[in-house]
Amino acid sequence: MTNLATSVGSIPLTSPIMNASGVWCMTNQQLVGIAESKAAAVMFKSMTLNPREGNERTRMYFNSILSVNSMGLPNKGAGYYCETVKQMHHFKKPMFASITGFCTTDFFSIFDLVNKAPFDAIEINLSCPNIEGRGIFAYDRDESMHILDKIRKKTKKTIGVKLPPYNQRSEIEVMAKSLVDVGIDFITLINSYPLGCFIDYETEQMAIRPNDGIGGLGGSVVKPIALSQIVLFRQHTKDKVSLIGVGGVEKGSDIYEYVLAGASAVQIGTALWREGPAIFGRLEHELNGILREKKVKTIREKIGALKMK
Ligand code: DHB
Repeated sequence: MTNLATSVGSIPLTSPIMNASGVWCMTNQQLVGIAESKAAAVMFKSMTLNPREGNERTRMYFNSILSVNSMGLPNKGAGYYCETVKQMHHFKKPMFASITGFCTTDFFSIFDLVNKAPFDAIEINLSCPNIEGRGIFAYDRDESMHILDKIRKKTKKTIGVKLPPYNQRSEIEVMAKSLVDVGIDFITLINSYPLGCFIDYETEQMAIRPNDGIGGLGGSVVKPIALSQIVLFRQHTKDKVSLIGVGGVEKGSDIYEYVLAGASAVQIGTALWREGPAIFGRLEHELNGILREKKVKTIREKIGALKMK
């Protein structure tokens, strides 16, 4: 049996496989479903200070290669998740909060609540593509660093940041170096590609309703984008920051590709939506099969082991 043990920051994980925020993690019941599955950790839905219903429906669409969503941050509010995590202690799995906000001060208010609750790690989501009236925080580096620096100084807990894709190497280099300077423990790459859509030519309609039918794009179509972000972020953060890969993980070989690129763990979004929490057992089985075939003893030795042509 191969050893799938890995870590994110100082948090040990029994395998590199966990859920992506936003999928199967909004309600108590769903979170328990992840905790009872083979997922190595439980990631919570991105929370706002107060509960939200989110956008009007249809707000999520998927097919065999992609997903488009404009959920609009439906969530039960920070208080609910801080109570829920207290009741999940017995699962003995790392619990990851995901926090977001509509303005800078929201992040600090939610962080103060979450920091007091028994979460093991906090993913700061600076990349929600569906916030009305404002752009993506992570495309404003000064504001992002202000948020992260202030939070870093408030806690010794493991903290990470979830980022959108960047289109230029120079942006990645500056962002990565700034995150190392701030002392971030992990970077999750990537949130859904911000401006995606699906047009059904038969009905002549967009697949989702909010925001002109345009929302975050996920699924296997974004995997090449996410992989390149992992490779480039790793060049500037090597061994100082853990990277978590997200985007189009549907089979064991996808996980192996992310690990070679430099990811210490992966998150499952679109495919979890499609398949439910049984997917974690399937992926672990497939990953074990690949490692056995390749005679790899530990997944750790393959993190960032990609060979260049
Ligand atoms: C939502 C979508 C995201 O990609 C995200 O990071 C947070 C929230 C949403 O629309 O609910």
